[in-house]
Amino acid sequence: MSTESGGVASAAAVGPPPGMKVRLSSNESPFGPSPAAVAAANAAIAEAHLYPDDQASALRAAIAQHDGLPVEQVAVGTGSAALLMDAIQHECAAAREARGDPGEVVSFARGFVVYRLGARNAGARYVEVETDGPATHERNGYGRDVERLLAAVTGDTRVVAVDNPGNPTGAHLTGDELRALVEGVPEHVTILLDEAYHHFARGEQDYATAAELGLDHPRLLVLRTFSKAHALAGLRIGQLTGPGALVASIDAWRSRFNVAAAAQAAAIASLDDLDHLRRTVDGTREGRTRMAAELRELGIPFTDGLGNFLTIELGTAADPVVAAYADRGVGVRPLAPYGMAEQIRVSVGTPDEIDLFLAASREVLADVPARA
Ligand SMILES: Cc1ncc(COP(=O)(O)O)c(C=O)c1O
Repeated sequence: MSTESGGVASAAAVGPPPGMKVRLSSNESPFGPSPAAVAAANAAIAEAHLYPDDQASALRAAIAQHDGLPVEQVAVGTGSAALLMDAIQHECAAAREARGDPGEVVSFARGFVVYRLGARNAGARYVEVETDGPATHERNGYGRDVERLLAAVTGDTRVVAVDNPGNPTGAHLTGDELRALVEGVPEHVTILLDEAYHHFARGEQDYATAAELGLDHPRLLVLRTFSKAHALAGLRIGQLTGPGALVASIDAWRSRFNVAAAAQAAAIASLDDLDHLRRTVDGTREGRTRMAAELRELGIPFTDGLGNFLTIELGTAADPVVAAYADRGVGVRPLAPYGMAEQIRVSVGTPDEIDLFLAASREVLADVPARA
């Protein structure tokens, strides 16, 4: 495998284009963090001369209580992206030790870019399982077939990584499909189930989390982040839960003192601020519904996914469309690094931001070929 994946790596790192009035390019929460989280972070910063708790004991205890798990089954890291990288490398190193080969990482095509980067860093083969095609006017795009994924799992597979809902496609597995996946993956394979967007997906279109389904697999690891509904993306904090021995072994691999004290304090406070979380999730869902309704009105096909974003079909090269949005002060995300040259991803904004996006869309999307 090539070690030169700069283009792919940058897909995970693209910031907003400079000078944008509205930043709908990075699936952040436009509602901002909980004020309690900000206060807790500020208090921690006043003690910035002290190292953070390397074990993040208070935060892990808070997550354990929140998720109804023993604390030994919880690890935290510098965003779930870092945890994913650590977990993939840990697993592939174990495979190399056992068999002389790091094995394969299997994922659905157009899954979150970090799975590919983790496989690359581990020297492992990255196997992509094809999905359905783009969205049409009648249906969402990029549907995933669990049987197809299971058929790609072999004796060489070490990791199956699935984002549910997926970024950037917005596709998701239903509860039944997720259960079939977890039950079908052999016990030698580690499942990385990435639930970064679960808050926005709950209770819709037969979506269910692993916890809601009570799924059981000896190597099932669930990743979540404080970057999305908790709106703490800039503080870099994510969580990994699963069987205690496996979680502890992966945790031993991370850089020490990697989660800053301010991040730990903010995450604890954010877990407690249920009102802010509810407002964020409700506001995001309302915004998503409104964006979807207006795009339908405009006759533009898109995937009405369950994350905090929509994935729009253009039927033409995305770059000029992205530039046309930028000219109007609206930052949206091109998806070429995912092999999606004619699609853009647009994050849900505040009501005012959505107004700007929709006003720009009426002009920018007026003539795209995908329009009915
Ligand atoms: C599917 C998915 N997983 C994980 C992440 C990483 O989140 P973070 O590293 O900020 O916790 C993202 C971020 O966009 C994502 O879309």
